[in-house]
Amino acid sequence: MRTFIAINLPQRERLRIHRALKAVREEELPVRWVDPENMHLTLKFLGEVRPDRLDPIRALMERVAGAMGPLALDVGGFGAFPTLRRPRVLWMGVEATPELRCLKQDLEWALADEGFEAETRAFHPHLTLGRANPDAGAGVFRDLDTWVPRLDFRVRVHVPALDLMRSQLSKLEARYTVLSSARFQGA
Ligand code: 2AM
Repeated sequence: MRTFIAINLPQRERLRIHRALKAVREEELPVRWVDPENMHLTLKFLGEVRPDRLDPIRALMERVAGAMGPLALDVGGFGAFPTLRRPRVLWMGVEATPELRCLKQDLEWALADEGFEAETRAFHPHLTLGRANPDAGAGVFRDLDTWVPRLDFRVRVHVPALDLMRSQLSKLEARYTVLSSARFQGA
């Protein structure tokens, strides 16, 4: 099954972000906006994993999360990959604090022992807010940068656990389910 390791924000915070985006959603841009229940911070995309490999992954997640104190995420800042002018993914940033970088690195090391390839791309922690239609004409997003200051709110979110997630793709939005959670120490 298709899996990844993520941090899910508490529902209250997801709804708060969703409400903050109301005005930009009403612009009717060619964007598929993510439902608030699907907003998450991906730490590691695992791809197709055989069910019998899930237990060792759960065990290493417990080890990594259990060795770490409670985690706070500094969420804020609107942006797009690869650029605001020609966006593919619209996102809200998450600050790459030393704690979050350590967590990502500890996971990479533990997963490497299980045969997962290390990520070579730079770590840009983010919550995907929407995906732009790749066929959208040039220029439709020319005013997207005006939303950067308008969506510039910041919020510190305390998160209790690392989640092993399943992703089921469909023609509509992907469906994500939590397979198991590993709590941070003291959370
Ligand atoms: P995205 O939201 O930035 O697109 C489930 O699909 C999660 O894993 C999503 O958050 C997605 O990130 C991420 N993801 C999907 N395919 C990926 C890939 N090939 N490499 C890294 N992350 C991926």
